[in-house]
Amino acid sequence: MKINELLNVKYPLIQGGMANIATGEFAASVSNAGALGLIGAGGMTTEILKENIQKCKQLTSQPFGVNLMMMNPYVDEMAQLVIDEGIKVVTTGAGNPSKYMKAWKEAGIIVMPVVPSVALAKRLERSGADAVIVEGTEAGGHIGELTTMALVPQVVEAVSIPVVAAGGIASGKQLLAAYALGATGVQVGTCLLASEECPVHENYKNAIVKAKDTDTTVTGRIGGTPVRIIKNRMAKEYIKREKEGASMEELETYTLGSLRKAVLEGDTQSGSLMAGQVAGMVKEIKPVKAIIEDLFHDCEIEKEKLMNFLGE
Ligand SMILES: Cc1cc2nc3c(=O)[nH]c(=O)nc-3n(C[C@H](O)[C@H](O)[C@H](O)COP(=O)(O)O)c2cc1C
Repeated sequence: MKINELLNVKYPLIQGGMANIATGEFAASVSNAGALGLIGAGGMTTEILKENIQKCKQLTSQPFGVNLMMMNPYVDEMAQLVIDEGIKVVTTGAGNPSKYMKAWKEAGIIVMPVVPSVALAKRLERSGADAVIVEGTEAGGHIGELTTMALVPQVVEAVSIPVVAAGGIASGKQLLAAYALGATGVQVGTCLLASEECPVHENYKNAIVKAKDTDTTVTGRIGGTPVRIIKNRMAKEYIKREKEGASMEELETYTLGSLRKAVLEGDTQSGSLMAGQVAGMVKEIKPVKAIIEDLFHDCEIEKEKLMNFLGE
């Protein structure tokens, strides 16, 4: 079963819940295009999340979900808010959501945690997760160690719930490859940053469009909080000081408010332009609907090509 049947949407595609970016308005534009839009609650307060949920409800009659970051200080309140607001799908990032699982399941919520390892996928299946989003290190934002190619099939073997592949998917070829690895759908972030509807600054979108294959790097590898971003002055200084053994406090001065600087002010030098390795494949800014339709259309073409190739 493809994940769209579980989620009751047209396409088996989930928009990554990107903190400080994925507003209710943006999530609605993705849901209206036939995929699952998510509100990224990461940088929000409970009140702001509530406003975004209400905005999303006004703008779409299609299913949408909320992404909760487990390290958000308001996560306990938010876990209750999604129940009170009748949210149908919750995805979780940066941690283990087991303690909320019972209440969410009783409320009929479909729960899909993002996992970077087989061990966490198995644990969350036991806790009652309906599916897992398996994210490879190619992805933009906070990442794990393993690649999508290596990790997805290992999780597919280890669990019996549906697996959604995330990280490194921005073309029909990659979508097809995700199915071949055993995924029932995909989650994408980077390719949707370069959409007309995405509320990031034009400079951020242009930086994605201009990026080459090697233009992302990872800050925080040594400190244990790896984040994939586009290389710029801030990233270079951060990594240099990190290698020199700078304290967490000093390193925080580089990242403090840096995502906001990139998203709102378009500061491409000292801002944190989170993006995945597929930024090198994103060549133009398009409407969300066109990005999603092209992905699935190209996947069909690639499937034909592959069948011809394998049939030779
Ligand atoms: C700018 C940005 C911010 C992100 N923020 C979050 C977040 O708040 N919560 C989360 O679970 N994942 C977050 N992610 C990861 C995405 O949800 C998604 O899994 C990832 O982008 C997929 O890989 P891709 O970037 O190669 O498409 C973020 C990704 C990006 C690019």
